[in-house]
Amino acid sequence: MNHFSYSGGVLHAEAVDLDALAEKVGTPFYCYSTATLERHYRVFADSFPKGTLVAFSVKANGNIAVLKTLGRLGAGADVVSGGELKKALHAGIPGERIVFSGVGKSRAEMKLALDARIYQFNVESEPELEALSEVASATGATAPITIRVNPDVDAGTHAKITTGTAETKFGVPWSRARSAYALAAKLKGIQIVGIDVHIGSQIVDLQPFETAFGKVVELAARLRADGHTIARLDLGGGLGVPYIQNNEPPPDPSAYGKMATRVTQALGCQLILEPGRLIAANAGILVTRVLYIKQGERKTFAIVDAGMNDLIRPALYDSHHEIVRINEPSPDAARQRYDVVGPVCETSDIFAADRELPQLKSGDLVAILTAGAYGAVMSSAYNARPPAPEVLVKGELWSVVRPRTDDDALLGSERIPDWLAG
Ligand code: LLP
Repeated sequence: MNHFSYSGGVLHAEAVDLDALAEKVGTPFYCYSTATLERHYRVFADSFPKGTLVAFSVKANGNIAVLKTLGRLGAGADVVSGGELKKALHAGIPGERIVFSGVGKSRAEMKLALDARIYQFNVESEPELEALSEVASATGATAPITIRVNPDVDAGTHAKITTGTAETKFGVPWSRARSAYALAAKLKGIQIVGIDVHIGSQIVDLQPFETAFGKVVELAARLRADGHTIARLDLGGGLGVPYIQNNEPPPDPSAYGKMATRVTQALGCQLILEPGRLIAANAGILVTRVLYIKQGERKTFAIVDAGMNDLIRPALYDSHHEIVRINEPSPDAARQRYDVVGPVCETSDIFAADRELPQLKSGDLVAILTAGAYGAVMSSAYNARPPAPEVLVKGELWSVVRPRTDDDALLGSERIPDWLAG
């Protein structure tokens, strides 16, 4: 459920009229709904036993105002870089609710995380374990760690967001899990606290999760028998969301919570979850204006002012995002097939192909839905286009929480070498 709906013929974000907002902010822009973020977080957190740490995956939406909104509800943060760690801390999420994932943590990032006394490092390889041991013991610190294991389970999701099969770079191979734990137990400055697993993103079937969690539970028992302390199970993120309206909905969080609890409860571990998309995706939209309707030889193109630099998901993953008019079309409005495309000079700069929509004309505003996760965070300045700004709405209030970078700032961020000066 989200809080974007028509009122008086205009799409609103909570109580904010998006047509009026577009006049004030200019297009394109991302718009997030506080009520939707809060609802998604609560529904998810309430699906798990008390004491579970729900660490929002900052990679899905790193806007500091969004992080602060979730942090105030008790959310932790799953970070994958020093930059994300700094953002989470800046948003007021304490180190004790932060977990650090990722295959390539640098020593500087490790130091930063140790200084912030984060809850745990999810370590992904033996060399990373050794580096962390060196960094921690150099300052007399102790790094609480889990080892991310690769269960070799296919999550049945898009190949580019599959992480739990043996072919991917993620986690320690299943066959070396016990030896990696044995290494960790010997290293100075390392304290084993649990196990971590993450099998992919946009997963709409619970079975692969259940298979992976079942394997992890067996491994936990074996590791305990080896003498290790396994007090926490980090089960990763990955529960999918409906991108296609009217399609079968993905599993609801409570079914997911029940399954995860049932499979793992005999161990008596604290659970840690790292949801990103499930919380943020349907809490955000990208508002864009139709620049031109162009009649091609075989197709009609609706050229909008947002581009693949603002939202790259359709180009990268062939993802489907619903597109709706901000001004509500009448039920009997004429409909037409469009390719909805951006201004970027690439054929892949496309938001929808052959999509039947109510007729559009130049100047119309449209919203690209389910854009709150992996939208703004993946934007770039490709084609020297400043990425779309971000707006956060709460009831009838709104605030620009990341302003548009103006062209002068883009120019000012580069330097001319001496030999070209003058
Ligand atoms: N934890 C780890 C270790 C992850 O790698 C990820 C996502 C998450 C948590 C959060 O997963 P979520 O709950 O959001 O599914 N850019 C892609 C998605 C990449 C996801 C990578 N890892 C997209 O736009 O679909």
